[in-house]
Amino acid sequence: MKAPIPLLILLHSTIAQSLKVVSKRGSVDGCTDWSVDYLKYKVLVGEPVRIKCALFYGYIRANYTHAQSAGLSLMWYRSAGHGDFEEPISFDGIRMSKEEDAIWFRPADLQDIGLYSCVLRNSTYCMKVSMSLIVAENDTDLCYNSKMRYFEKAELSKSKDITCPDIEDYVLSAKEPEIVWYKECKSKQWRQNILLKKDTLSIHEVLEDDIGNYTCELQFGNFVVRRTTELTVTAPLTEKPPKILFPPENKMTAMEIQIEILATWR
Ligand SMILES: *[C@@H]1O[C@H](CO)[C@@H](O)[C@H](O)[C@H]1NC(C)=O
Ligand SMILES: *[C@@H]1O[C@H](CO)[C@@H](O)[C@H](O)[C@H]1NC(C)=O
Ligand SMILES: *[C@@H]1O[C@H](CO)[C@@H](O)[C@H](O)[C@H]1NC(C)=O
Ligand SMILES: *[C@@H]1O[C@H](CO)[C@@H](O)[C@H](O)[C@H]1NC(C)=O
Repeated sequence: MKAPIPLLILLHSTIAQSLKVVSKRGSVDGCTDWSVDYLKYKVLVGEPVRIKCALFYGYIRANYTHAQSAGLSLMWYRSAGHGDFEEPISFDGIRMSKEEDAIWFRPADLQDIGLYSCVLRNSTYCMKVSMSLIVAENDTDLCYNSKMRYFEKAELSKSKDITCPDIEDYVLSAKEPEIVWYKECKSKQWRQNILLKKDTLSIHEVLEDDIGNYTCELQFGNFVVRRTTELTVTAPLTEKPPKILFPPENKMTAMEIQIEILATWR
């Protein structure tokens, strides 16, 4: 049996990767540096973006309000790339402003590309993490950059929902988001089988014709936020149930019997 070897390699590389992330935690000048957060901000030129200090979202328990009342201060720095010189950011308060645990760009520009580090500190404590921001232009004659697309798969004649991704920061909680959908950057008269509701485009029965690039557009103040998802459609998989590789069938029966016994006990 040859299968376990690639599986082991896969497992090993997965573990190695997660270890790498953890071991990247370093300490410079007494500041714990968590390096670059896995989440990348990707926007088009002219779109607003909010970069949140990731420390408050998975690295430390405290939220910004907490940290502030504990007397910690939050500082922001920018560098053009990893390992490059970090400079303090000057906020003009209009296009770029510091708001609670985040930086807002209203809107982002090509010059904003880089790494943004937030440093939370007092005289005895210091934590740092960086977030990367990628800003790109539309592809020629398109309303999206093909390198910034999201991807979804659907099965022929099944139903499929496409949600406008990563827009939470641009939706006012009290209001229902007003989203306009485009296909291949064009307005469309959607067929009856396709429903638009809140942030989702629902296809009741997927047709081959549904393959393509769906752009959702959300108004945000004077700006728009756009996200593009490429939908691929595959033929339905065979009707036969998938073969169970593990546990082998004889063990399976033993397990089923056990489950049945447990079930009758209840
Ligand atoms: C911060 O955490 C405190 C305590 O857990 C909570 O009461 C407060 O609502 C949080 N603040 C924000 C802005 O999430
Ligand atoms: C600095 O912050 C840490 C973490 O909140 C806290 O434990 C420590 O007492 C603070 N030090 C000073 C000098 O305020
Ligand atoms: C991208 O395309 C949209 C739609 O064609 C257009 O409104 C927008 O101005 C374009 N953005 C840039 C940065 O070219
Ligand atoms: C979706 O977008 C990609 C990249 O722009 C393009 O190559 C592809 O042809 C598009 N799909 C359709 C169905 O137009």
